[in-house]
Amino acid sequence: MGALVENGLTGSAISNLAHQVDAAGLSAAERFGLLPMPNLAWTPEIERETAHLYEKVKRVMPSVEWPVHAPYIKAINDLKRVRNAVILAHNYQTPEIFHCVADYVGDSLQLARLAEKTGAQIIVQGGVHFMAETSKILSPDKHVLIPDSRAGCSLAESITGADVRALRAKYPGVPVVAYVNTSADVKAEVDICCTSSNAVKVVESLGADRVIFVPDRFLAANVARQTKVKIIAWHGACEVHERFTAQELLQYRADDPGLKIIAHPECPPEVVDVADFAGSTAAMIDYVKTRRPARVLLVTECSMSDNVAAETPDVEFIRPCNLCPHMKRITLPRILDSLLYLREEIRIAPDLAARARISVQRMIDLR
Ligand code: 13P
Ligand code: SF4
Repeated sequence: MGALVENGLTGSAISNLAHQVDAAGLSAAERFGLLPMPNLAWTPEIERETAHLYEKVKRVMPSVEWPVHAPYIKAINDLKRVRNAVILAHNYQTPEIFHCVADYVGDSLQLARLAEKTGAQIIVQGGVHFMAETSKILSPDKHVLIPDSRAGCSLAESITGADVRALRAKYPGVPVVAYVNTSADVKAEVDICCTSSNAVKVVESLGADRVIFVPDRFLAANVARQTKVKIIAWHGACEVHERFTAQELLQYRADDPGLKIIAHPECPPEVVDVADFAGSTAAMIDYVKTRRPARVLLVTECSMSDNVAAETPDVEFIRPCNLCPHMKRITLPRILDSLLYLREEIRIAPDLAARARISVQRMIDLR
């Protein structure tokens, strides 16, 4: 074990952190205690203790990379036990996070349900800021940490609560559905949330002939094709999925007629039209694991192909690699930092969180 002041934190930063108090007047240090920096050297002992985890990722990670990741993986898994913490990781996290330190993995809906259920006192969100906010909304008494608060989302950033109020003024009486890829501020203003796996069901659950759907214009367009409800869409887009084109997919298909193309509904509708199947990240994974196509192209964030490939050696993945820069801000060193120094904590004003919880809970309760 090394010194307490490590990993970029100065003594005064630690003391600032130690004096930051919660609603009950307790600092993070008083609630959970500060811990020393673990040893991050690559040793025969670490090699032995992490060998079973390397087995999980060896298909997608050259052995030369393992000595870089393994000491962090060992330290994070030890710290989780000391802290009574869980890591919730989205399907877009890198394989060393997804397969080696995450306690629970899934799509946005699955992670929201898990956040609600976990008994752990600390949740570290392997994902982006709106996901950590959703966990905090559902678990207001838990200590929810995002390893890098700059991990944003082009969809969440495209709309504010004030924008939703303006939409309501423009379309009086029309219910508002928000994709979970929104801030707590937006969730507090809408009637119900949805994810890509339940969007059509949520829209139809309202019993209205018109629905305002924010913020993803492509998900809105893909939903509109599956329902009689008229959709009034906001103009946001995912910066990862909007880059795919029907033309490039048709080229892949022309080169390899046996290729299965599976798309995420955040893609433009003309891209979804080329695909053999479209669904949330969990539904895409399920398609590959159950149908076992010989060759597949997952039209989504590129780490997901690595995560599925690690478990499906019989499937060949064709990979145009579009990375989400926000998801990629979450790294093993940042997760370690988060668990050591209990940062960066998600804080939402209790009245705002209570209003946001209504729209998230309505979605979760819709079975
Ligand atoms: P799902 O995992 O819910 O399909 O969402 C995809 C996504 O882009 C999350 O940011
Ligand atoms: Fe947002 Fe798209 Fe990144 Fe998901 S992949 S976090 S929707 S920018």
